[in-house]
Amino acid sequence: MNSYFTRAAGLDGQRGVHGYYHEAVATANWSNDMGEMMRNSLLLMALCCVSSVAMAQQPSTYDAATIARGQYLVYAGGCNDCHSPKIMTPQGPVVDESRLLSGHPADQKLPKIPAGLIGPNGYGAVTTNDLTAWTGAWGTSFAANLTPDPTGIGNWTVEMFIKSFRTGKYMGISRPILPPMPWNWYGHETDADLTAIFAYLKSLKPVKNLVPEALPPGATIRAAHASHGSRAAH
Ligand code: HEC
Repeated sequence: MNSYFTRAAGLDGQRGVHGYYHEAVATANWSNDMGEMMRNSLLLMALCCVSSVAMAQQPSTYDAATIARGQYLVYAGGCNDCHSPKIMTPQGPVVDESRLLSGHPADQKLPKIPAGLIGPNGYGAVTTNDLTAWTGAWGTSFAANLTPDPTGIGNWTVEMFIKSFRTGKYMGISRPILPPMPWNWYGHETDADLTAIFAYLKSLKPVKNLVPEALPPGATIRAAHASHGSRAAH
């Protein structure tokens, strides 16, 4: 599936620089597994809601040095590029500090993607002006809310957090994490560094923002597929 994309990008059989694209696209068998993924996500969300009552108010137990190290790694790792909403200025988009790292704004409407833009002879991906939503052969992915609100990582444990970077699985156990989240690169960081990132994220102002679940390719680039006539969108 989606072989036109991996072929076009020269990714077939590669696990190198952009291996995660290939892997996520190849593993995410949207047409068959999407229903199950959605169910898993809903189940996870239900479990999170149940536990949020008990855990949401837990204060962060990390020391100031660990949190500062985490901030350093988040800034250097460019997480704000994709995970922070932006304010549009004449100089271009700048990070909205009041909603730092709160992910793709749930109320933001996606602009339409022109037919044929994404495909073997077109572009590999397009993104919104604020870089929080991305559409490519994998469908559309929305940058996650990384603040300690229950709609973000409020109910996550550090074990889940580290596991998601090690396995490339959503919340460490569920569906594959989609592009362009570079989990495989960040996954090279030590447990101590990933723990520091988690500590910093837990120290942020909680922002309530329920980021939409990822969309399968058919939902956003159906027109692009149809115009090539090469494969049926679902
Ligand atoms: C190029 C854009 C981009 C950058 C840079 C980026 N992310 Fe992401 N991230 C995403 C997108 C998009 C998703 C949603 C992927 C999906 O739906 O599968 C995501 C998802 C996540 C998730 C949720 C994964 C899960 O298991 O539920 C976490 C945690 C995360 N990112 C942390 C980070 C951290 C920490 C950094 C910086 C060190 C970072 N991201 C940098 C785009 C990015």
